[in-house]
Amino acid sequence: MTSERPSECYVYVTLPGETAAVTAGRYALSTDKRGAPFGRFIYGRSYLERSNAVALDPVELKLSARTYTTAALGGVFGALRDASPDYWGRRVIERHLGHAKLGEVDYLLQSPDDRAGALGFGLNQAPPAPRRDFNKTLDLARLQAIADAITADEDAPLDAATEQVENLLLIGTSMGGARPKAVVEDEDGLWIAKFNRPDDPWNSARVEHAMLVLARACGLVAADSRVTQVAGRDVLLVKRFDRERIDGGYLRARMVSGLTLLRAEDTYQSRDKWSYIGLVEELRRVCAEPADDAAELYRRMCFNALISNTDDHPRNHAILARGTDWKLSPAYDLTPTTPVSLERRDLAMACGDAGRFANAANLLSQSARFLLLTDEAGALLTGMLRQVQAEWYGAARAAGVSERDCGRIAGAFVYPGFGEV
Ligand SMILES: Nc1ncnc2c1ncn2[C@@H]1O[C@H](COP(=O)(O)OP(=O)(O)O)[C@@H](O)[C@H]1O
Ligand SMILES: [Mg+2]
Repeated sequence: MTSERPSECYVYVTLPGETAAVTAGRYALSTDKRGAPFGRFIYGRSYLERSNAVALDPVELKLSARTYTTAALGGVFGALRDASPDYWGRRVIERHLGHAKLGEVDYLLQSPDDRAGALGFGLNQAPPAPRRDFNKTLDLARLQAIADAITADEDAPLDAATEQVENLLLIGTSMGGARPKAVVEDEDGLWIAKFNRPDDPWNSARVEHAMLVLARACGLVAADSRVTQVAGRDVLLVKRFDRERIDGGYLRARMVSGLTLLRAEDTYQSRDKWSYIGLVEELRRVCAEPADDAAELYRRMCFNALISNTDDHPRNHAILARGTDWKLSPAYDLTPTTPVSLERRDLAMACGDAGRFANAANLLSQSARFLLLTDEAGALLTGMLRQVQAEWYGAARAAGVSERDCGRIAGAFVYPGFGEV
C-alpha cells in the first residue's frame, strides 16, 4: 500500500472452550503490479503446532502452512470480511476517525471486539485481553439517542473533534447489517439491540420479534428475542448465538456468512451465485450433520417466501462452530415486505428451477437437493403455508404489533402468486 494507513495485522481467534484469544496468523493487504488489491494470509507456525488449532473458515483458509492469497473481494478473505464491520459499523468508525474513506485493515483494526464470530485483529503479536466492558441494557436510552443522532445526521460532514466521538465509541459495534444497533449485556449474556428508525414503515422491533416467534412456531430454529421499552420506544433485543457466558468470560463460536460459503460478493455482478441451492450444497460439504442443516435451510427458504422476506441475502445466513464442527446458525433478520406485485415476488437468492420466484412449485422443484423426498417437502410446505396463514396475525398481536401495523404488513403473508402446493 502506498498510503500511510496500516496494511497488515495479526489475526486472533478464541479457540473452542476458551475465553481468551490466541494469535492464529498474519494478514497483509497490498496491491499487485496492476494496482489491484491483493490479500495474503499465513497461519503462524506456533498456532499450527497447537493440538487444538482450528481453521478460520471451512472453505478458504484450511489449516496449512501455505501462504493463502486472494484477489477477490478487494483482497479481503471471506472469513475476515465477515468479521469486518458493515454499513452501520463503518459509518461509526469513519465518524470516529474523521475520514470518509478508510482502508480495509483500518476497519478491521478500529472495530470493537464485539464482532460476530471468534476472530479479532490487532497490531501486536500477542492478542489483547478479552473485553469486559459491554454496554448494559440500562444504557439503551442513551444508545438510542446516539443512534438517532447518527441516523439523522448521516450525510453531515465528518468531524473527529466533537464530543460525539465519545458517544460513537460508546455505541460502536462491529456487528454487520445496515440498521442502527448496539451490543448490550444483561444477566443472561449478550444481546444485539436493534433500534427502530424514524423512516420505518412500521414498528420494526415488534414486527421482527413477531417473525422470530412465528418462525419457531413453524419449526425453524431461530434466534431468541424480546422487545424492551426505552423512554417509551421499542427496541428489539436478539440474543447472540455466537457467544456463551461462562464463569470468567465468554465462549465464542466461529461464524462464517453464506456469502463466504458461496464465495460470492455483495455486488450485483456476483448475484448469480446467490442461491439456496448453492448454499445447501456447501452445507452438505462442510456441516457435521448435513441432512439436519439441509432440511433446516429448506424450512427457512419456505418461511421467507411465505412472509415475503425478500431481504434474505447471503449475509442473512451463516454457519457456526462452537466446537470443531460447523452447523447452520439459528435464523435471524426475518423481516416481511409488501411489494406491490401480487403475482410475482422474488427472494434475494435462487430457490428453484424458476430462479428467485417465491412460489410453491418453484420451492418444491429442487427439494431433493435439500435431501428431502418429494412427499416430505410437499407436506412441509403445505403445513407451513397453513400455519403462516392462520397464525401470523396472532403472533403479531401477541408481540404487541398494533392493529394499524398489522394492516400494513398483512399483504406480506402468503401473497396470491405464492400458489398452491
Ligand atoms: N443473534 C445473533 N447472534 C450473533 N450474530 C448475529 C445475530 N443476529 C445477527 N447477527 C450478525 O449480525 C449481523 C447483523 O444483524 P442483522 O439482524 O442482519 O441486522 P440488519 O437488520 O442491520 O441487517 C448479521 O449479518 C449477522 O452476522
Ligand atoms: Mg441483516
